[in-house]
Amino acid sequence: MAPKKLYIKTYGCQMNVYDSERMAEALPGYERTEDAAEADMVLLNTCHIREKAAEKVYSDLGRLRPLKDAKPDLKIGVAGCVAQAEGEEILTRMPLVDLVVGPQSYHRLPAMERAVQTGARAVDTEFPEEDKFEKLAARPKAKRGPTAFLTVQEGCDKFCAFCVVPYTRGAEVSRPAERIEAEARGLVEAGVREVTLLGQNVNAWHGEAGGLAALVRRLAAIDGLERIRYTTSHPNDMDEALIAAHGDEAKLMPYLHLPVQSGSDRVLKAMNRKHTAEDYLRLVERIRTARPDILLTSDFIVGFPGETDAEFEETLSLVREVGYGSAFSFKYSPRPGTPAAERKGQVAPEVMDERLSRLQALLTEGQRAAQEAMVGKVTHVLFEKPGRMPGQMIGKSDHLFAVHAEAPQELAGQIRPVRITASAPNSLAGALVA
Ligand code: SAH
Ligand code: SF4
Ligand code: F3S
Repeated sequence: MAPKKLYIKTYGCQMNVYDSERMAEALPGYERTEDAAEADMVLLNTCHIREKAAEKVYSDLGRLRPLKDAKPDLKIGVAGCVAQAEGEEILTRMPLVDLVVGPQSYHRLPAMERAVQTGARAVDTEFPEEDKFEKLAARPKAKRGPTAFLTVQEGCDKFCAFCVVPYTRGAEVSRPAERIEAEARGLVEAGVREVTLLGQNVNAWHGEAGGLAALVRRLAAIDGLERIRYTTSHPNDMDEALIAAHGDEAKLMPYLHLPVQSGSDRVLKAMNRKHTAEDYLRLVERIRTARPDILLTSDFIVGFPGETDAEFEETLSLVREVGYGSAFSFKYSPRPGTPAAERKGQVAPEVMDERLSRLQALLTEGQRAAQEAMVGKVTHVLFEKPGRMPGQMIGKSDHLFAVHAEAPQELAGQIRPVRITASAPNSLAGALVA
């Protein structure tokens, strides 16, 4: 029988990208399609982090109506963090949805799929005892691209006052080191040269003594695995061993996403971040002592309830002091069930807009400076695929800049020294060093 077609749309963070791959692999008898119109099943792997992200799911579901009318056998599923947060309510609000599955229970998708084929509707948003990764089918051996995500840790115990993740993803759980190593070895056999270890708080990983630094070193011993990255890390979980690994583990790339959210101590306290701006700056200093050329990135929230103009200015000062390679910045979005949503002093939308555009202008300036600073330098690029121009290949540098250079296609999956010749808004141009 010809395989059925599965269309997955992924919203939100890299952990969802990884989960989408695993869900597709978990469903026997399906192959992926990029065209929703030819799908037998559509899965929306959703994000609940901000209101816009969550509401987009409902408008996208609405747009699937004509597809389902044209093809009544089409099955529609909602996975990810909106599924976890809203569960059954999705079925009530959206009669066209057949299946709702949370991020912790998607190893049960095959049974749910069988149920919906009989015309039932299925919901599973449990936090089961079993390790879903152990229940999932083995990952396919088929050849794949040179970079891959690998989830090593899930959940969050930090309860920042604005954030839904501890509710949608549950408590912190670390996968065992041996299983992660086995998965990494499989990825390398399939052609992967760079893995990015993922976790909502990846540096809180505690699957073996020594924490994430020990895991990085264990994976660095795998022949053929050339580069290791990890994301997202919390400042309070950056331990001495991990900082040291940035200094002496050649395969650990000089790039670190270290969200700070705000530069104001009062706001940080109200956010329940459990560190001050000064703590963060000292941490950055220690990291840069270990690895002077490390590129730092961050996330910021503007307009957290009660944030004053002066407190926002403190965020701008912190940005100037750190000097980020790039960063994400968001307007605060009140989320149901989180403590901050109940607070007084919600900031007016036009104030948030103004703060966001000032912060983004500053961050863009920082990104431009970081890119300009690369011009004339030799960096290493892991080539991934042909670029837009004939004869061109694109890849990522050690510092995760997108770089294009004239290079033969055989270089896909290989790392080469490249001299950077020019900087464009979102990429660098370079030439292979002979
Ligand atoms: N675990 C990671 C990422 C969490 S979500 C961490 O701790 O850094 C990614 C980013 O979304 C956060 O860093 C934060 O900047 C932003 N975010 C989370 N909740 C938000 C909210 N309610 N409103 C606006 N931005 C939010
Ligand atoms: Fe959310 Fe904070 Fe946990 Fe990050 S550390 S996932 S922002 S609660
Ligand atoms: Fe969004 Fe869930 Fe990731 S809320 S950011 S998809 S953990």
